[in-house]
Amino acid sequence: MTIAETYARFGAREARGVSPGYERLSHAVSRDDELLALVETLPPGKRQPNLLFGVVRLLGGPVHDPAAFHDFTLAHWLAIEAELRARAVQTNEPGRCAVLLPVLAALRQPLALIEVGASAGLCLYPDRYAYRYGDHRLGTDGPVLDCALTGIAPPERRPEVVWRAGLDLNPLDVTDPADVAWLDALIWPEHEHRRARLRAAAAVAAADPPLLSRGDLVDDLPALAARAPAGATLVVFHTSVLYQVPAPRRAAFAEVVRALPGHWIANEAPDVLPHDALPEPPGDAHHNVLALDGTPLAWTRGHGQAMSWFG
Ligand SMILES: C[S@@+](CC[C@H](N)C(=O)[O-])C[C@H]1O[C@@H](n2cnc3c(N)ncnc32)[C@H](O)[C@@H]1O
Repeated sequence: MTIAETYARFGAREARGVSPGYERLSHAVSRDDELLALVETLPPGKRQPNLLFGVVRLLGGPVHDPAAFHDFTLAHWLAIEAELRARAVQTNEPGRCAVLLPVLAALRQPLALIEVGASAGLCLYPDRYAYRYGDHRLGTDGPVLDCALTGIAPPERRPEVVWRAGLDLNPLDVTDPADVAWLDALIWPEHEHRRARLRAAAAVAAADPPLLSRGDLVDDLPALAARAPAGATLVVFHTSVLYQVPAPRRAAFAEVVRALPGHWIANEAPDVLPHDALPEPPGDAHHNVLALDGTPLAWTRGHGQAMSWFG
């Protein structure tokens, strides 16, 4: 896929109906030869639309108006390039706990959770957030996570978590204002509810910080798993991570995780893990696949806002 196609696709499949500003901006960049030429000077892993848009936001640039974005990016390219090379997309979206919950709640309790690709670890607190699946509410404390759920009854309980740990190449710290500023810049412009949710979830995490280890999800997972307490069901999970991992390493990860005791939950784009057959997704928008121990169960929207269980 060319860079122009990547930006056009991001607008059409990820931003459309979710962020009108980013939809407009990504289509404009896909037709902007000057900006595309700059982006092309970056390594392939640094060219993603949400990385560029997040860095421009972090530096105080405009993302609502494509012409102003163009001028700002050209004028400040050296600073933007330095940030792009130093940073990665580490969006930490606690809303994704809403699509993990039906599976987590159905496992033998209590749970010992390991999240690989944890970013700041905000998805490690599924037991501390409140949920709204249509009229069905669960929990009264923490940020409220809304999820339109179809195909199954909503979960009746939150999981009991006795241990939580995260692994990331670059763990972020919710008590560090610079890290929170980057997490905030990664949130799409119109999504004030997600900004409020980030701050509420960060408060939950800061009150009882998880064990966050710097490391690779293939090389360092077994040692972290060995630290999980006996007597709890070990659950290794990841959401929106494997698209950042090269294919041979994804296969190596699947082998490592399958050799561990307990369960494996993946919430990832449909093309990053091999699945035999998947039903048609509910519409053109980007959907992830939720899978338990390699068995696909549901389509999920990127920020946890909807979930459609397979029939
Ligand atoms: C898009 S973020 C998703 C964070 C979190 N899972 C969520 O859903 O909110 C992807 C994270 O995966 C991490 N990551 C990418 N490759 C990794 C690897 N090989 N080992 C560990 N973490 C990795 C990145 O550093 C980043 O923090």
